[in-house]
Amino acid sequence: MNLPDLNEARKRTSKEILIKTNDYIVKENLKDLGQGKKYYVKTYGCQMNVHDSENIKAILEDMSFEEVDNLEDADLILLNTCAIRENAHNKVFGFLGRVKHLKESKPHIICGICGCMAQEENVVKEIKNKYKWVDIVFGTHNIYNLPNILFDSMTKKEQEIEVFSIEGDVLENIPVKRDSKYKAWVNIMYGCDKFCTYCIVPYTRGKQRSRTPEYIINEVKDLVKEGYQEVTLLGQNVNAYGKDLGIDYKMGDLLRDVAKTGIPRIRFMTSHPWDFDDDMINAIKEYDNIMPYIHLPLQSGSDKILKLMGRRYTKEKYLDLYHKLKEIPDVAITTDIIVGFPGETEEDFNDTLDVVKECEYDSAFTFIFSPREGTPAAKMQDNISKEEKEERLYKLNELVNEFANKNNQKYLHKVVKVLIEGIGEKGNLFGYTDTMKLVNVDGSEDNIGKIVDVEITDIKTWSLDGKVVK
Ligand code: SAH
Ligand code: SF4
Ligand code: F3S
Repeated sequence: MNLPDLNEARKRTSKEILIKTNDYIVKENLKDLGQGKKYYVKTYGCQMNVHDSENIKAILEDMSFEEVDNLEDADLILLNTCAIRENAHNKVFGFLGRVKHLKESKPHIICGICGCMAQEENVVKEIKNKYKWVDIVFGTHNIYNLPNILFDSMTKKEQEIEVFSIEGDVLENIPVKRDSKYKAWVNIMYGCDKFCTYCIVPYTRGKQRSRTPEYIINEVKDLVKEGYQEVTLLGQNVNAYGKDLGIDYKMGDLLRDVAKTGIPRIRFMTSHPWDFDDDMINAIKEYDNIMPYIHLPLQSGSDKILKLMGRRYTKEKYLDLYHKLKEIPDVAITTDIIVGFPGETEEDFNDTLDVVKECEYDSAFTFIFSPREGTPAAKMQDNISKEEKEERLYKLNELVNEFANKNNQKYLHKVVKVLIEGIGEKGNLFGYTDTMKLVNVDGSEDNIGKIVDVEITDIKTWSLDGKVVK
């Protein structure tokens, strides 16, 4: 048993990170472990978790398990969890209630919890004490060992907890079962060293480890050969890519090399304003296949709060960068904002509203501050009432929606490129523009998986309607 330890997770060791190409192995006797058994993976949280689930699914299929869409049909249920805010926790514990109910009628079901919540001391303690029926818990650094963890749980019939607090090396031979045939997630780095004072990620994902350019570019080249239309380069702050590799090669260089593979669309996320350099902006301008869409989290517009958050930029610096990015032709910019951070006064909040008014974001993800155990902000004096926080969130959202709608209006009657991903709930096609606008599209199913010209016929706040013209 390996239990998580926040003090360990906080450490940043100088241990050299190696690239390992044979750490993941499925022993001969485990290749049929899942024969005749079905699995269901439920994913919470960010794209990194979505991509981890693609790895987990491939590992399970290496052991002959078969995927099902329906929880009720599964013999193995895995919850890949997120720890970013309290409500992410609540959702997982709510879902666990359903699994418990199922397990009462079908005791053979194996239930596992993985992802960022599995890295949290208090969560694992609770599972160990109050959820003894949960069979396995494994951390974000333990995914490669899933075959052995599962085997141990199935043979020993006791709760199996394997969570390393300190990150491991960069593993390059983990298989992947991608959810889409057209767009792919490509990790370019793991972990985060920024330690924004409110954030749990540096504890749940370990120190920053970049993959080498060769592995990333080869992965994209393979995706091009398989007919993929789009890649999203993933990391908690992709702009810091390469800093830990000790070579003179940064995000701008990587963007250019990925662009040269000829993949039709390149996206990247998330960008921390701190490391966004001019070379990256130039790379985006130079290549048509680097999409003019940037997610640039603001968090707060008040210098006092930004300092307390440990974001290391001021409102002025953020706005300078924002205006430089706005020079990219037809660019769309979105953001993340937290309201109700400890010590946020009405004046601080108004500073945030001022930035939103100046930036007129295409859209924004807005959150009420949620204290995360073990982070510095959780210990800060929080004297704002719940009602006040909710009021600020409401006010902010009103403004955000106004600009989202205003930005969308610019698209009316224009012809834009859309990668058609599939058929939506209302029976029509759907896809995204270069600028990441969701479009509901009239057109034939032959267009699925293709980038087509779409004329925009109607505007909603959060989506566009259109019809295929070519
Ligand atoms: N690496 C990304 C953010 C990842 S988390 C970045 O630095 O931009 C996604 C968003 O969740 C953050 O941008 C932040 O707005 C929000 N968030 C993170 N921790 C939070 C907390 N404790 N309470 C409320 N929102 C939080
Ligand atoms: Fe969290 Fe900050 Fe790292 Fe983003 S950059 S993951 S907000 S610590
Ligand atoms: Fe959540 Fe972990 Fe992502 S905390 S946002 S799943 S890195």
